[in-house]
Amino acid sequence: MVERIKTLEIEALAALNRAKTLADVDSVQVRYLGRSGLLTELIKNLKNLPPEEKPNFGKVLNETKVKLEAAVKEKKQLFQERNTEQKLKAEIIDITLPGEGVKRGKLHPITSTMEELVGIFSRMGFSIAEGPDIETDYYNFEALNIPKFHPSRDMWSTLWITEDTLLRTHTSPVQIRVMEKKKPPLAVIAPGRVYRRDADVTHSTVFHQLEGLLVDTDVTFGDLKGTLTAFLHAVFGKDKKVRFRPSYFPFTEPSAEVDVECVMCGGSGCRVCSGTGWLEILGSGMVDPNVFKHVNYDPEKYTGFAFGLGVERIAMLKYGIDDIRLFFENDLRFLRQF
Ligand code: FA5
Repeated sequence: MVERIKTLEIEALAALNRAKTLADVDSVQVRYLGRSGLLTELIKNLKNLPPEEKPNFGKVLNETKVKLEAAVKEKKQLFQERNTEQKLKAEIIDITLPGEGVKRGKLHPITSTMEELVGIFSRMGFSIAEGPDIETDYYNFEALNIPKFHPSRDMWSTLWITEDTLLRTHTSPVQIRVMEKKKPPLAVIAPGRVYRRDADVTHSTVFHQLEGLLVDTDVTFGDLKGTLTAFLHAVFGKDKKVRFRPSYFPFTEPSAEVDVECVMCGGSGCRVCSGTGWLEILGSGMVDPNVFKHVNYDPEKYTGFAFGLGVERIAMLKYGIDDIRLFFENDLRFLRQF
């Protein structure tokens, strides 16, 4: 019996010596020391031996078990250390290499232009108003002194939804919504998206406008000129000339379009200003008394001015962009330049 135990011990130690991986050590452990292992079976068999033999065999078996367990443990530790070492070598990180950095997003040029324009009017004391993108005929046209079938409706290539609803063609309907709720004096701006059946290098189907409306007693065309000149000087620089050109809008009387000296050629004439030296920036005028009647303002008591400008137009001039479609293509090579 002692012989048998010694042979098992020699075999087990030799198998451990041959082990090349942690898995090999595991299988040696199972074969000799596992629940049905060869040594374990001998230990289980101890109870069947005559009582006088038990102490001696028990001692030898126990010594062998302790020895084998220690050898398995030692071998396992060796392999585990080796594995960790290999893993560390494979995953080595050079912490002296420069990092990749986190790319920061930026505002879209239309958003930042809109924020700049809104900021200028806010500092002048205008507050911000909003209206819906889907409007009714009444707010977009009728209340702005543009009756059904009036030829002036042709000024706006309208995208109709039903006979009475449409995608607003300008931000001017916000004027009506504000005046319905508030009494004068008031000074508001209304930034927002507008829609027209228009598409070429300077016209987009969806674009942005900034509307302005100021109503009080004794508001004059001089107030309109002063406010818009100050605004345009803040955007394009104080040295730029500004001119007011007679025009027509059904909701303002008199009406004027406002031009600024061409920012590309300084007024000498170029491709951008079609050789005129001037760039058209916005539409404006004194609020027509007929509009005041729709919102129950007394036209004998109150006067006011209104204006509406295209935000893309201003962004194109500020950044020297000659195709409006670039704003809406979401091409990162374009957007990253701002
Ligand atoms: C209007 O829309 C008037 N509501 C402006 C107004 C308000 C006048 C208050 C008087 C009082 P107009 O159609 O001209 O006007 O448009 C105003 C500006 O929007 C234009 O000067 C132009 O810069 C811009 N715009 C017009 N159509 C387009 C388009 N399809 N794409 C990009 N910008 C456009």
